[in-house]
Amino acid sequence: KKELVITIDGPSGAGKTTVSKTLAARIGYRYIDTGALYRGIAFETQQRGIAADDEAGIESACQAIDLRFRLEGGDLRLFSGDRDISDMIRTPEISMRASAVSALAPVRSFLTVLQRRLGEERAVVFEGRDMGTVVFPEADVKFFLDADSDIRAQRRYEELKAKGEAVDFEQVKRDLVTRDLNDSSRKIAPLKPADDAVHVDASRIGVEEVVETMAKVVASLR
Ligand code: C5P
Repeated sequence: KKELVITIDGPSGAGKTTVSKTLAARIGYRYIDTGALYRGIAFETQQRGIAADDEAGIESACQAIDLRFRLEGGDLRLFSGDRDISDMIRTPEISMRASAVSALAPVRSFLTVLQRRLGEERAVVFEGRDMGTVVFPEADVKFFLDADSDIRAQRRYEELKAKGEAVDFEQVKRDLVTRDLNDSSRKIAPLKPADDAVHVDASRIGVEEVVETMAKVVASLR
């Protein structure tokens, strides 16, 4: 069997993480959530008291930040050095800060290098915003996963509520729309489908069906 590089890009709340994880498990691949890396940089630079627009400060901090993934019981955990920061990076505040720092050139080049290294062994599903366009333009299969913004906001709202965060639906939706606008209008590596991406709309179908659709495309290439 050919070992592929598969990319899944799309806006916030489309279900990329669940879909990537499920697809990867089904075909025996690893999966990498690249948004977690941007969140990791956002979190660690916040801990160091660096402003989100201090490009020079963030650039030098990047060199000292040691982010790595560890698979624990099927779950991908993000570590900064020895500290598991997986839960701390999932707050609304870190989401917005991740979107801000992700527009900075030094952050993008730092993480692009890291992601390409993680892709060297192949047999991996990468999810993010620019996986098929910038990081792996030669990927074997590229998906663009989208859904209506109301449905995406609803999903994000349920997730945050389930974690016990005090959240308001309208606020969650505003944040999500703002973040997508930031991500798709930035100069470097904006969120957009690759020219050769397979579009999948998850508005009216569940995770199983999305994964089924993707698995068929993948099977035809392996
Ligand atoms: O996917 P997630 O919502 O965790 O990503 C957080 C933020 O990281 C996004 O809003 C985006 O600004 C940034 N990101 C990016 N490129 C990627 C993945 C995430 O710019 N490949």
